[in-house]
Amino acid sequence: MKKLIFSIPASLFDIFVIEFNGYGIEILSRDKSEVNFAIYVQDEEYEGIKEAINEIFEELGGGNLILEEEVKEENWEEKWKENFKPISAPPFIIIPEWEVYEGKDYIPIKLKIGMAFGTGLHPTTQIALSLIPECVKEGKKVLDVGTGSGILAIASAKLGADVYAIDVQEEAVKECSENAWENEVSIKCEKKSVQQVEDKFDTVIANLQMDIFREHFDKIVQLFKDCLIITGIYGEKERDEIINMAHKHRLRIKKEISKKDINKEGENWYGFIFEHQ
Ligand SMILES: C[S@@+](CC[C@H](N)C(=O)[O-])C[C@H]1O[C@@H](n2cnc3c(N)ncnc32)[C@H](O)[C@@H]1O
Repeated sequence: MKKLIFSIPASLFDIFVIEFNGYGIEILSRDKSEVNFAIYVQDEEYEGIKEAINEIFEELGGGNLILEEEVKEENWEEKWKENFKPISAPPFIIIPEWEVYEGKDYIPIKLKIGMAFGTGLHPTTQIALSLIPECVKEGKKVLDVGTGSGILAIASAKLGADVYAIDVQEEAVKECSENAWENEVSIKCEKKSVQQVEDKFDTVIANLQMDIFREHFDKIVQLFKDCLIITGIYGEKERDEIINMAHKHRLRIKKEISKKDINKEGENWYGFIFEHQ
């Protein structure tokens, strides 16, 4: 197994995490100007992953590989355990699968070490988690579009909802099922694009990217009755664009929240609850 160490301008890090789909990233250091992070790859994945990262760096206009070294596989697991600390995203707290939450203030969500997006670290996931309690109630039907690790689906199921989670990635569907089991909630996790969903849901949650919303927003809008939670919107330009798209579908904003970029100097991330007018 190899450990690859990269450096990227802090303003590009959040976008990188989304583009790279959250594949187990260990943050080594972070300041206002730069983030250094490590990725652990199996030897057979090494070339493909290095190439994928270089393509993202090129597209974003920044980022370098600064070191690569051989590591023993058991070190990787240990490193993860050292680095994966509880993350509070009220009213939820995300804890690694090996920890037990004994407090009373938060609703715990246990996550296994995984490759799918959704460790709870990313501002967009945190925005969605904070909006969920406003829309998701006991017995309501919820669709989680692009479930990744299943984190938002699990949060909804913990509030008593009947949840259907979909993702186009096989790995995500597997992780969604495994994490649901760890959390003792029942969730139907399936490999499907949003275009293939025909049912209607009280609430639809979609933490995606602007280019995916451009392609699928029309369809997403058809699937919800009461609440549509949208996050993954970065910067003023994307904010204006999604609001325009929502207006065209006669949706109004019930709630909007924003969160600073990880380095606190980039643009804001935005999240919305939309409802029909
Ligand atoms: C930004 S991640 C969000 C993961 C998790 N829900 C969270 O909030 O942390 C977006 C996910 O959407 C999935 N995705 C992309 N296009 C999709 C589509 N057309 N239908 C369903 N899922 C899609 C990706 O594979 C990825 O796992």
